[in-house]
Amino acid sequence: MKQICVVGVGYVGLVTAACFSDLGNRVIALDINEERIAGLKRGEMPIYEPGLEELVERNVRAGRIKFTTSYAEGLEGTDFAFIAVGTPSGVDGEADLRAVAASAKSIAENMRDSLIIINKSTVPVGTGDWVAEIVSSNQPEPIPFSVVSCPEFLREGSAISDFMQPHRTVLGSLDPEAAEKVAQLHLPLRAPIVITDLRTAEMIKYASNAFLATKISFINEIANICEELGADVKEVAVGMGYDKRIGPFFLDAGLGYGGSCFPKDVKALAYMAAEKGRHPQLLNAVMEINDDRRPMVVRQVMELVGDLKGKTVGLLGLSFKPNTDDMRDAPAIDIAKMIQAYGAKVHAYDPVAMEVAAPLMDGVEMFSDPYSMAADCDALIVVTEWNEFKNLDLERICEKMRSPVLVDGRNIYDPAVMAKIGYTYRGIGRGYNGSYHNGEVEHEVIASPTGV
Ligand SMILES: NC(=O)c1ccc[n+]([C@@H]2O[C@H](COP(=O)([O-])OP(=O)(O)OC[C@H]3O[C@@H](n4cnc5c(N)ncnc54)[C@H](O)[C@@H]3O)[C@@H](O)[C@H]2O)c1
Repeated sequence: MKQICVVGVGYVGLVTAACFSDLGNRVIALDINEERIAGLKRGEMPIYEPGLEELVERNVRAGRIKFTTSYAEGLEGTDFAFIAVGTPSGVDGEADLRAVAASAKSIAENMRDSLIIINKSTVPVGTGDWVAEIVSSNQPEPIPFSVVSCPEFLREGSAISDFMQPHRTVLGSLDPEAAEKVAQLHLPLRAPIVITDLRTAEMIKYASNAFLATKISFINEIANICEELGADVKEVAVGMGYDKRIGPFFLDAGLGYGGSCFPKDVKALAYMAAEKGRHPQLLNAVMEINDDRRPMVVRQVMELVGDLKGKTVGLLGLSFKPNTDDMRDAPAIDIAKMIQAYGAKVHAYDPVAMEVAAPLMDGVEMFSDPYSMAADCDALIVVTEWNEFKNLDLERICEKMRSPVLVDGRNIYDPAVMAKIGYTYRGIGRGYNGSYHNGEVEHEVIASPTGV
């Protein structure tokens, strides 16, 4: 049985700690946030992630996972220390590495035995070397250690299955023996293991996220063109996705990417390139297209209901994607602010994120169900594609609204069905019979050929 310390008990750290304990390791999960650790000791999850509470509970009962705020306790008898602290955007788009530096320093000051330090946080290329320098310069006396990069690829909302069945494990180190030991720890996951050097492993994470963000911006650009030309981007994506070289994933046109990873990681990669004198023109375009999505949906509402002053717009969904309560860089925040700036009131409903969202969305009225939220609204916007929204009683909502206008920012409804119920419906990039051409919008919608 190996002993693992996971430093930083957030979306990645808590899932990592719970999953490694479930695989039979002894795990100590460490965070400097005392409230978070005290809550976990009482069995309260600091985040919403499907299946996490049960997983943590099971392993607490089995005595395989413990929580602490003390580095001395966390590192006692530990073979592996995973760093999973946050790396948000700094002022110029660079990754803010203060939490990584602080945790590396605390590890150095408190380790008593040789240790493998594993960077799970997404960190700029070269950070592994820098962490090694911090550790060696802060140890009270020299104790051997190695640094391994093991970037995390899990997605919030399906984090446990992503962790347990990863597409691959990437490990980078200048110490092959340490990388081999970390590989052993991951063997039960039965995924291909790519072992490379530190910098390449760090780059694999950024390149992967930048590529996925590029797919999203690509299909959003295609959606814009579809709107002009009367094609249906949903059908375009289906037709493209059968091509194995393209694949069907990340081709959902909508409000663009948000959350705690893509926005900051694309920015950080562009920053790294620019800092070295390179012009990251593709990454810049990806970000520019994404930035346009949020004002675009507000413009669409205004095209359908006119001046927003004195009107009420309802948001279906707040979290940046379904099955999470994560509101970091969620499109809902910017969309609500823009609508308010035009003089309208904002109503909102989200199945799990309202508590996290409320302090971030001043003046937005939250409702405990989608029906009361929609009452007296002049327009609704689907911001997050929660499954719950796919099964709403849309007739009931239509009756309750002051004017039944629905802008479907995630293309979850069938335009023909919505028109039949009586909505003035607008999806993203979906065949509008060329009516965008003159800047005039007709509400007659062409149903997609297969009725998707
Ligand atoms: N969230 C995701 O879906 C995801 C996926 C892949 C990779 N990542 C990367 O993983 C890293 C962590 O992301 P997250 O979303 O889990 O962050 P998070 O903000 O949810 O959690 C970070 C935790 O680290 C703690 N922390 C900060 N400084 C600390 C210190 N000095 N010592 C101990 N704990 C400390 C914080 O209190 C917090 O609980 C980031 O680099 C992120 O880019 C995130």
